[in-house]
Amino acid sequence: MANNEDLFKKLISHAREYGFVFPSSEIYDGLSAVYDYGQYGVELKNNIKNYWWRAMVQHHENIVGVDSAIFMHPTIWKASGHVDAFNDPLIDNKDSKKRYRADVLVEDHMAKIEAKIEKEVEKAAKRFGDTFDKQQFITTNPRVVEYFKQIEEIKQRLYPALEQNDLTGVKQLIEDLEIVCPISGSRNWTDVRQFNLMFSTSMGSTADGANIIYLRPETAQGIFVNFLNIQKSGRMKIPFGIAQIGKAFRNEIVARQFIFRMREFEQMEMQFFVRPGEEKTWYEYWKQQRINWHLSLGIPAEKYRFHDHEKLAHYANAAADIEFEFPFGFKELEGIHSRTDFDLSSHQKFSGKKMQYFDPELNESYVPFVIETSIGLDRTFLAVLSNAFTEEILTDGSERVVMKIPPVLAPIKAAVLPLIKKDGLPEKAREIFDTLKLDFMCQYDEKDAIGRRYRRQDAIGTAYCITIDHQTLEDNMVTIRERDTMSQDRIGIEAISGIITKRIKENR
Ligand code: GAP
Repeated sequence: MANNEDLFKKLISHAREYGFVFPSSEIYDGLSAVYDYGQYGVELKNNIKNYWWRAMVQHHENIVGVDSAIFMHPTIWKASGHVDAFNDPLIDNKDSKKRYRADVLVEDHMAKIEAKIEKEVEKAAKRFGDTFDKQQFITTNPRVVEYFKQIEEIKQRLYPALEQNDLTGVKQLIEDLEIVCPISGSRNWTDVRQFNLMFSTSMGSTADGANIIYLRPETAQGIFVNFLNIQKSGRMKIPFGIAQIGKAFRNEIVARQFIFRMREFEQMEMQFFVRPGEEKTWYEYWKQQRINWHLSLGIPAEKYRFHDHEKLAHYANAAADIEFEFPFGFKELEGIHSRTDFDLSSHQKFSGKKMQYFDPELNESYVPFVIETSIGLDRTFLAVLSNAFTEEILTDGSERVVMKIPPVLAPIKAAVLPLIKKDGLPEKAREIFDTLKLDFMCQYDEKDAIGRRYRRQDAIGTAYCITIDHQTLEDNMVTIRERDTMSQDRIGIEAISGIITKRIKENR
């Protein structure tokens, strides 16, 4: 764990040093849980968006996009349930004056018990060596069995209390578990209260009778309210989907873990409208499609796992998360939800407009059911970045930090480097750069020794380096260096673009 924490700290400072992510408003000491993306961060982010958009919209004839406004009619958030139920249970410590999410305090307590189990397993694995049977150990070792029992008992109290909005029960649990404030170390807690996560502002001047409006907490509602517009204007036939990428805002109280939980973030969401009764089949279909998308990036499969929800939101009849193993453990990266007809029916009720589809094959109208896929762009960015961060000791004993970002997502696809800054090499290199930049995001660099330039490109994850040397002037051949293996090939100038395109497609 300590190693992963170290790694995470290194990753955060690397992201800052190399222009991926900066704390927002840094010269004013930052703004909590808000971040800016720098010159390489924005490229990586745009590449992730494109990769998602191509897979969802371009590769599916029956999925189209939308770009809805962030400001929406306030009644939308009443209809969606966000005004009444988009809450976190909060608790304050009276001594430190720090505010916490009550459920997270309890979950952190459970994580500590889980860590104890891990420790016992590690110890036993060392003791028994090759003969160690983990499954047998965790089901029979009395201490471990007791830890599991404790966790189960906590779950049995926490989740029903949250579901029934039994805030006194949640507070009682915190007291019974003797949870202390990490800052003050005291157990001097306030009562638990519900706190709405939506940011609000007002539209129009107060004199005109300003309207309270909300910054959208999810992009999905912009899709639902445009369902009819798009279905009719695009002559869409069910099943069909609408995809959107955009900003969402949540006044997160437990805002930590870098860009994992932010107050302003981006979502990539798709709502897939289906016939009632067919939603379970489509739910399974989208679960598979989405995990395939993640795996297509070449990130190891063991970094991902599904977490099927046992307790479902009132509007869902199935839900699962795709979790990713971040440096701080497995956490939600994407949600796939079978949302029934809840949202469209609710908008129908609140707006008084029919949100129905006439199905020519069935010769009847109905409110479609919806399967939603919802992935955080910033969390995907963090997943890619944390998987990419690699420290290597090379055969000559030197060290390099290399960002092994999947080439298709790399901020810079190719760096063009004249071996030295004279003898006509820069001119030739510029010529190549000027052609190549029409196809890819490229960088020209002639400063410092070639080895240092390679290191700089490795640190930002540039997929290929193209080196121009004296021989190039004679035979029009360059050296192409691959980032991860550092292998080098001699190729013709006219072949560079084609070779890079091919290798990126093959994801290597
Ligand atoms: N429309 C469904 C919806 O919004 P969600 O599980 O609340 O579902 C979907 O959010 C995804 O958005 C999450 O899986 C996560 O990747 C991302 N996300 C949610 N809150 C976030 C936050 N505060 N910061 C960064 N990403 C967040």
